[in-house]
Amino acid sequence: MFDESNYSFARYLSSKKSVDNRALNRVVWQRLQSIIASEHSGKPSAILEIGAGIGTMFERSLEWGLFKKAYYTAIDAMLENILEARARIPGWAYNAGYKVEEIADNELRLTGSGSDVTLKLEDGDFFDFARKNSGHHAWDLIIANAFLDLVDAGRTLQITMNLIKPSGLLYFTINFDGSTVLEPEIDAEFDALVERLYHRTMDDRLIDGTISGDSKTGRHFFEVARKNSVEILESGSSDWTVFAGKDGYREDESYFLHFIVHTMYSALKERPELDRQRFNRWIKERHSQIEDGKLVYIAHQLDFLCRKAEN
Ligand SMILES: C[S@@+](CC[C@H](N)C(=O)[O-])C[C@H]1O[C@@H](n2cnc3c(N)ncnc32)[C@H](O)[C@@H]1O
Repeated sequence: MFDESNYSFARYLSSKKSVDNRALNRVVWQRLQSIIASEHSGKPSAILEIGAGIGTMFERSLEWGLFKKAYYTAIDAMLENILEARARIPGWAYNAGYKVEEIADNELRLTGSGSDVTLKLEDGDFFDFARKNSGHHAWDLIIANAFLDLVDAGRTLQITMNLIKPSGLLYFTINFDGSTVLEPEIDAEFDALVERLYHRTMDDRLIDGTISGDSKTGRHFFEVARKNSVEILESGSSDWTVFAGKDGYREDESYFLHFIVHTMYSALKERPELDRQRFNRWIKERHSQIEDGKLVYIAHQLDFLCRKAEN
């Protein structure tokens, strides 16, 4: 039985890797890959990942052959995530056939089969980092996976423009876009109310007194990009689709689902619009559906590959 008292965000991010692997839009990915191959051929790419979590996008970039040579800086505001990245990546790299050297505190060099990649793990706030590095235009590529919908997307885009090289690329993926589907239905009306209120918590989120987050980040990003003179080179959906096959949920995806349902519970447990007992029963039933392999979860999201528009 799932232990509800012991949720770990790092484990959630690890369980999310296989879900993201299926979801990431391959047309957008292939466009990114082909631009890197043609424009960066032979040269190491300078890559910054914002809100990098425990480093799964870094791992994926190498697993899916995005680059051979790179200086990759991964920044995250949660020290717990950076420590987990530090703990897991050497083992992952060794298993993937790389030679791993620790070249400084939180700095690893991965070599082998023509690859030479330096990974720098930074624990800290991206906006502080951006202030310190503003105007340096040092990065060829800035990545943010499952991040932009947590912050003010317009402000973040503006800030990243001060960090990338003039022809640099932005790869912003897994941006939530206004639809959460949980099946089977428990009670259509109550299910819809929970969904609506859950999305509202994303729209109402405040960080340092400013609205941060948007439950329709995906569709709104087209306008955000236009206003910031950013050209969208490619976009497409990257919906999470999680279901149990004949052997149950894949990898650690039942944990992923329990974590999502628990996140909904934490976000809504104090909402006066929801009858407390009814909502508690609803949450319990969702957890039971996961235990029984019945819950299907779909979240609509969009991916973007962008470049600063030429004037
Ligand atoms: C939903 S998680 C996604 C993590 C990772 N990109 C992934 O897909 O596995 C969002 C991450 O953004 C980080 N984050 C949120 N605000 C941040 C900020 N201002 N600066 C740096 N990281 C931040 C959180 O700590 C969290 O790890």
